[in-house]
Amino acid sequence: MKIRTVTLPDGERVPVLGQGTWRMGENTRTHEDEIAALRLGIELGMTLIDTAEMYGEGGAEEVVADAIENQRDRVFVVSKVYPHNASRTELPKACERSLKRLRIDAIDLYLLHWRERSTRLVEAVEAFEKLRAAGKIKRWGVSNFDVDDMKELLDIENGFACSANQVLYNLEDREIESGLLQWSQKHEIPIMAYSPVGHGRGLLENATLKKIAKRHDATPSQIALAWVLRQPRVIAIPKASNEKHVGDNARSIEIKLTGEDLADLDQEFPPPKSRKSLPML
Ligand SMILES: NC(=O)c1ccc[n+]([C@@H]2O[C@H](COP(=O)([O-])OP(=O)(O)OC[C@H]3O[C@@H](n4cnc5c(N)ncnc54)[C@H](OP(=O)(O)O)[C@@H]3O)[C@@H](O)[C@H]2O)c1
Repeated sequence: MKIRTVTLPDGERVPVLGQGTWRMGENTRTHEDEIAALRLGIELGMTLIDTAEMYGEGGAEEVVADAIENQRDRVFVVSKVYPHNASRTELPKACERSLKRLRIDAIDLYLLHWRERSTRLVEAVEAFEKLRAAGKIKRWGVSNFDVDDMKELLDIENGFACSANQVLYNLEDREIESGLLQWSQKHEIPIMAYSPVGHGRGLLENATLKKIAKRHDATPSQIALAWVLRQPRVIAIPKASNEKHVGDNARSIEIKLTGEDLADLDQEFPPPKSRKSLPML
């Protein structure tokens, strides 16, 4: 089955289901398994790969480089810059280091990983735009930005060019449903949901999730992903370094949750009743 796409603000289309890489590139013993998992994911249509200079302090970007070798054109590469590097002088250097580790000429989407008190948004946007003009990145975006940060961003010159906001979203972490999700949909800025299967913290052991999985002859991770992907303009980026998990995740796009499933999930994982601020992992 072909994975449906989300259209970014500049018209580029990316699959709704991609692949994360946090915790990859930390250990040479698992290098080959990680490459094999990412390659299988690409074969199965999960051609958006998310990484960051932070992951394995560059090690994950090197794993991505090996996984996409000879097939760079099929893959949409997302990387992220540390907030302390998001300045006029440091951003171009950080980008060059990432490009070198990724062994590519341009990053498809370059995100500010999170915002710190000292982050000067105007300066970061200016630096992103310069990189875009120089062809080093195709587009830029942000991560872990709540509604107030997004509003501030859109008030800055060229802030509207933000292509996506990558945030925590899964059955146990529904905070974005209290404001950010709706705001983003209204402003047509895609949400990239991170930790969509709960970051390996036990969500997949939940009894209700298991019960619903049984109804669909599916796995809990497929239900967790189908639930995230029920929302329009939302991309999910599960991380799996195990090929069985990758295959499982790819099949989540075939699952259509019923009204009964959604009601059961709402009961087990209630949606926020009032405004909740955005947590970050
Ligand atoms: N912007 C940010 O601040 C931020 C923060 C967190 C994450 N991220 C991005 O989002 C990606 C995903 O988030 P995440 O890594 O935190 O959590 P996640 O994708 O929700 O969970 C990853 C964990 O779930 C396991 N898993 C994956 N598929 C599975 C399946 N089908 N069955 C059973 N277990 C499965 C993985 O195991 P195996 O590896 O053994 O397969 C791994 O332990 C990250 O890798 C990263 O790229 C961004």
